[in-house]
Amino acid sequence: MRVLGIETSCDETSAAVVTGEPGGANARLDSCVILSQDVHAVYRGIVPELASRAHLVAVGPVADRALSDAGLAAGDTDLVAVTAGPGLVGALLVGVSYAKGLALAAGKPLVGVHHLEGHLFGTALEDPAAVPPFVGLIVSGGHTLLLDVSAWGRYRLLGETRDDAVGEAFDKVGALLGLGFPGGPAIEREAAHGDPTRYRFPRPMLHGGQRPGDRDYLDLSMSGLKTAVVLAVRGAPDLETERPHLARAFQDAVIEVVTAKVVRAVELTGRPRVVLGGGVACNKALTSALAAALARRGASLHAPSPRISTDNAAMIARAGLFRAGEAGGSVDADARMPFPGLERT
Ligand code: KG4
Ligand code: ZN
Repeated sequence: MRVLGIETSCDETSAAVVTGEPGGANARLDSCVILSQDVHAVYRGIVPELASRAHLVAVGPVADRALSDAGLAAGDTDLVAVTAGPGLVGALLVGVSYAKGLALAAGKPLVGVHHLEGHLFGTALEDPAAVPPFVGLIVSGGHTLLLDVSAWGRYRLLGETRDDAVGEAFDKVGALLGLGFPGGPAIEREAAHGDPTRYRFPRPMLHGGQRPGDRDYLDLSMSGLKTAVVLAVRGAPDLETERPHLARAFQDAVIEVVTAKVVRAVELTGRPRVVLGGGVACNKALTSALAAALARRGASLHAPSPRISTDNAAMIARAGLFRAGEAGGSVDADARMPFPGLERT
């Protein structure tokens, strides 16, 4: 089965072709085109209306290119999969409307995909071992979720952020440090030559007295850390010279909290592996700290390459293959789409 995936939930316009058996066995990536919108850098954040307009211009050519890179015409595909939510409603509408039109014109079934379920599937396209059972960590600009994945489609929420997503915290601290948007990659670059001993920021929601079952045992929070960075920036004698050290201290605090929560999740569930997804998975300091901490406990880390970490349609096509049996139902853009199969206990 050949699946054309379309992703327009935020600020990347992407299309990809994935081939595999319905359900997902033997899935392989045939092509993937990602067009990142750089217009938002000017405004230091995503402007929803501009995102929708840019998707409108790009979605057709991006889909055509993904098909031609795979050596296909629209009529050669067996299924169209599109991100139906969550995300920016106007941006989602562009992708969903385009996918509906394409599916109708080519006489192909259409399936709606949940963007975050897509992030869980992306890694498996590159790493055949990134399959359930695993602990899933989605760290993107909009979401931070720690999940117990017993099987594809069966998700149990272990922890989530109480305030900002991890990527959002990187973006806000990037802005505070005068690093532009998005903040994540710039902070990682700065932190690489920062002195880890110059500043020390709090580790929110992490202390030794926490026990499994406590509400904050696996949840995360970024707000106290952000406030600490604000105060340190205000007190810094010269932001130019302090920037790498502030970036390093912030990144170290995030890494310590995220690593501790992931290790707790692995110890609690006994899962042998952790699968990462979302833009923050690009952060090499985070992935090496996680890999080392997990290796000490006999577990493995499976992180996607940068292309599959940030938003892309390959993961949407792969999740669409898994959900192929649901094609034919109505597909509508839903900015607050509930995570399918997610149990909150
Ligand atoms: O998954 P994604 O492309 O979009 C959402 O679905 O939100 O994630 C984007 C987020 C941004 O917040 C960006 O700052 C962050 O991923 N990011 C990083 C790095 N590269 C991207 N955060 C930390 N370190 C990085 N190297
Ligand atoms: Zn995403």
